[in-house]
Amino acid sequence: MTLFGIWQTLLIATTVLTTGVSAKRPNVVFILTDDQDLHMDSLSYMPNVKKHLIDQGTNYQKHYCTVALCCPSRVNLLTGKAAHNTNVTDVEPPYGGYRQFIDQNLNQNYLPVWLQKAGYNTYYTGKLMNFHHILNYNKPFAAGWTSSDFLLDPYTYSYLESVWQRDRSPPKSAAGQYSTDILAEKAYAYIEEGASSDTPFFVALAPIAPHANVDVNINGSNVSHTSGDPIPADRHKSLFSDVVVPRTPNFNPDVPSGVSWVAKLPQQNQTEVDYNDGFYRNRLRALQAVDEMVDGIFQKLESLGILEETYVVYSSDNGFHIGHHRLQPGKRCGFEEDINVPLIIRGPGVPQGATTDIVTTHTDLAPTFFDMLGIDLRDDFDGAPIPLTRADIDDAVTTRHEHVNVEHWGTVNSEGVFGNSSAAGTKENPENTYKALRLVGKEHNFYYSVFCNNEHELYNLTADPYQMNNLMSSSFKNQDGYAASDLQKMVHRLDALLMVLKTCVANDCIDPWGVLHPQGDVKNLEDALNPKYDAFYAKSFDTNSVSFTKCEAGQILSSEGSLEPSVYPGQVNWENFS
Ligand SMILES: *[C@@H]1O[C@H](CO)[C@@H](O)[C@H](O)[C@H]1NC(C)=O
Ligand SMILES: *[C@@H]1O[C@H](CO)[C@@H](O)[C@H](O)[C@H]1NC(C)=O
Ligand SMILES: *[C@@H]1O[C@H](CO)[C@@H](O)[C@H](O)[C@H]1NC(C)=O
Ligand SMILES: *[C@@H]1O[C@H](CO)[C@@H](O)[C@H](O)[C@H]1NC(C)=O
Ligand SMILES: *[C@@H]1O[C@H](CO)[C@@H](O)[C@H](O)[C@H]1NC(C)=O
Ligand SMILES: *[C@@H]1O[C@H](CO)[C@@H](O)[C@H](O)[C@H]1NC(C)=O
Repeated sequence: MTLFGIWQTLLIATTVLTTGVSAKRPNVVFILTDDQDLHMDSLSYMPNVKKHLIDQGTNYQKHYCTVALCCPSRVNLLTGKAAHNTNVTDVEPPYGGYRQFIDQNLNQNYLPVWLQKAGYNTYYTGKLMNFHHILNYNKPFAAGWTSSDFLLDPYTYSYLESVWQRDRSPPKSAAGQYSTDILAEKAYAYIEEGASSDTPFFVALAPIAPHANVDVNINGSNVSHTSGDPIPADRHKSLFSDVVVPRTPNFNPDVPSGVSWVAKLPQQNQTEVDYNDGFYRNRLRALQAVDEMVDGIFQKLESLGILEETYVVYSSDNGFHIGHHRLQPGKRCGFEEDINVPLIIRGPGVPQGATTDIVTTHTDLAPTFFDMLGIDLRDDFDGAPIPLTRADIDDAVTTRHEHVNVEHWGTVNSEGVFGNSSAAGTKENPENTYKALRLVGKEHNFYYSVFCNNEHELYNLTADPYQMNNLMSSSFKNQDGYAASDLQKMVHRLDALLMVLKTCVANDCIDPWGVLHPQGDVKNLEDALNPKYDAFYAKSFDTNSVSFTKCEAGQILSSEGSLEPSVYPGQVNWENFS
């Protein structure tokens, strides 16, 4: 018996002695949708998510993914490590997909493996990650699951011709049945199986909705894919016929916005807008089967008598845009639509019907599951547990860090019939590699990014919530000297913070100001804006800012500029520097 096992037995024995009943550790049901937006109001069309989760739990409204792309994002949240530390940065080889996950030795170093070691039964059904394929699912099998029933590529995104692979069995086609409905039945069965054991359980449910549908055409050895709108269940296919993408000020604007390839996009014509509104409606319709599953899950937890001891966590791997900044349907950008995603948590001690604006990210999810289940945190987590109680959430409003480390490598393949696969470069010349920082504090609300062509973006979301006004246009760079404006002083700080975040490991990702100021007296942007640091940050920006020497499709460090942040006070007395 392991030390942990002995401790657990003692704990259970003590609990039984003192209370007369055996208090089980809590269970977790984790629901992870695919490409679900927060900014196009998808949650407003999910009455059961509202009834069971939003009204009975806490809505973390400033929750972010750190890389707005399925596979890197899923590996990020399943490991508690930034994508630059997992080095799973794409959906497919050579930089991403299941093969890269295996090659980076993550299959023995991720959430379910750790939860099993801590005495949990673990279950997974749905999409694990991209390129988890009928040809490689057993080379090796995904580790850590007491039982698993995965959707496999190339059929993962086929709503009506999905292929499932349970435990050690070969893959089986479920052609003709609706993917999300199949998943719901598997979900209820796993919850029942989990509840039938004395061991607590973690169940992860990953439907593909509202991702685009991708069908597979096999003709001899020729395999091709046809991609189109998400497919709703028949019973939902005529809902919401009048609904269109919310016309926010950044929707298909008359003037271009963004930088790099985004700034070159043509405005969409009415044919494209109409088609994309239809794509949007099919997303909402496809989410209805997920919403019904949410209702079914709560009925199941209630009928099994385990609702009060089970956390239910709802999120999406990344967000989505349709028409924003003239973009065709897709993700992979750093705009709010792509990175700010739903996170709702209901469970023991979690405030009911509450919302909070404290900053949380997918990197925090694995540490959060550890925290929920009373497991000691790992030293190599790049994130910190999300506060779950009223007292801890209130405390976090003043003490929690303000930043999100956003990153992306590669191209953009837009979805929908007007999607332009060459809109953001080719594999050889990718244009969509960038490092970014989202900062949400009491006084400040910024998005700062550096693209691999060294174009910069800065949006002040307090004044410009739709990110239409890039404050780092050419006039910014033409101002001479670094003593000038408050805006420049702000940029100097944000850049230095991003310098730390883009290569940070473990606690440095949680407290990056502590790297810049080892004295420990700077905890947030407001502290760093103290004029006594002006010279240090100006010099740092001048000599050691975030930059690239080449656009790469993956994490090639020799193309990512300086990798070492400046440290105050460094080798010279910065207060005397001028
Ligand atoms: C299959 O491929 C062959 C050879 O390329 C072609 O002649 C045939 O039309 C294809 N069939 C379909 C259904 O696409
Ligand atoms: C494979 O299928 C695609 C799409 O139908 C077609 O364009 C291509 O010519 C086919 N290739 C072969 C070798 O049949
Ligand atoms: C709108 O744009 C699409 C794709 O670029 C094009 O095929 C179509 O002809 C255009 N429609 C109109 C009405 O201009
Ligand atoms: C696709 O993007 C490229 C590069 O921006 C552009 O030259 C081309 O015109 C675009 N094609 C369409 C159909 O929009
Ligand atoms: C950001 O916008 C707010 C609201 O307009 C303004 O008070 C603040 O000065 C702006 N910050 C910067 C650095 O421009
Ligand atoms: C990430 O993986 C790619 C592909 O295996 C490799 O070329 C690259 O050097 C790796 N980067 C780092 C920082 O390990």
